Amino acid sequence: MKRLTVHASREYDVLVGRDLLNRAGDLAREALKKSGGRVMLVSEDRVAPLYLERATESFSAAGFSVFTYVFEAGESSKNMNTLAGLLNRMAEVPMTRSDFVVALGGGVVGDLAGFAASVYARGIRFVQIPTTLLAMVDASVGGKTAVDLPAGKNMAGTFWQPSLVICDLDLLDTLPGETFRCGVAEIIKYAFIGDRELYDHLCQSLTDHLEWIVARSVADKRDLVEADERDTGARQLLNLGHTIGHAVERCSDFRIPHGDAVAIGMHRITSAAVKKGRCDRNVLVCLDALLDRYGLPKSAGFDADSLTQAALGDKKRQGDSITLVLPCGMCKSERMAVPVGELRDWIAAGGDAEE
Ligand code: GLY
Repeated sequence: MKRLTVHASREYDVLVGRDLLNRAGDLAREALKKSGGRVMLVSEDRVAPLYLERATESFSAAGFSVFTYVFEAGESSKNMNTLAGLLNRMAEVPMTRSDFVVALGGGVVGDLAGFAASVYARGIRFVQIPTTLLAMVDASVGGKTAVDLPAGKNMAGTFWQPSLVICDLDLLDTLPGETFRCGVAEIIKYAFIGDRELYDHLCQSLTDHLEWIVARSVADKRDLVEADERDTGARQLLNLGHTIGHAVERCSDFRIPHGDAVAIGMHRITSAAVKKGRCDRNVLVCLDALLDRYGLPKSAGFDADSLTQAALGDKKRQGDSITLVLPCGMCKSERMAVPVGELRDWIAAGGDAEE
């Protein structure tokens, strides 16, 4: 098992290894220095049949009274109603400020349970047990919590760091291939932001080096979170491929999953950087080879006008400019503020021949 410590507004460990769910109760008791009390286990109805019983047994065996809240799987549940349902359930128990929440699931569960933990009784602790590769390497670390509003994804949220993150790689065994692939897109992102060694491992084999690669991705994210917890500077590098990626998600009415959209976004922004002379073509060749190798798409066929329109609604826009993340060398990226009037030009520059 690998243990990484995140030094943010709260200091916490991220554990990466195998057979950790069965030990989750003991690991939480040790990390939170807490024995007894109540735990609210939050999950969704695709994950719960697979892992909720084991999680419940583990926390019960560690001496906690376990309560559960399971909601319907999917992004459409990440809303104020589900949040209110969870908060009311916590109040019914009743949970107190010394109790804690456990998020057992992918990014939707982590975002929603983390948000509930951050506002219940003005904030109680929570533990992340991510069950998808994407949540392990990205969403569970760094303390962003959110629900969606009709106006957009993640429009209401908080920064609230977890007290422990448990990445049990065994949980990935039940993951559908498409969902696993989405996590790989985020790992490729870390490589192209600035991690040559991670890139080299991805060129060899993901499955042979899974523990190393997940821990390394977490370490890359940790470094950016520690440098800029509130996402006003260096942390924005994590948006490589995301401005166009979010636009692709919107244009597809969210039928294209996040990881695939990020892959498309990385390809397109790298193509644009090459075309505008800011990046060597070899970077694009290397990126495309990895995307192909892991079965990730490079285009969805949306035209530059539709993508620009969708990108302008992104909450990352700040007034009249939008910060793009551009590859500027092999495994090297930089931020660049672009006037919104020039965004279409960038998106068009990365377009494919099919348009
Ligand atoms: N997922 C991007 C971030 O945590 O900043």
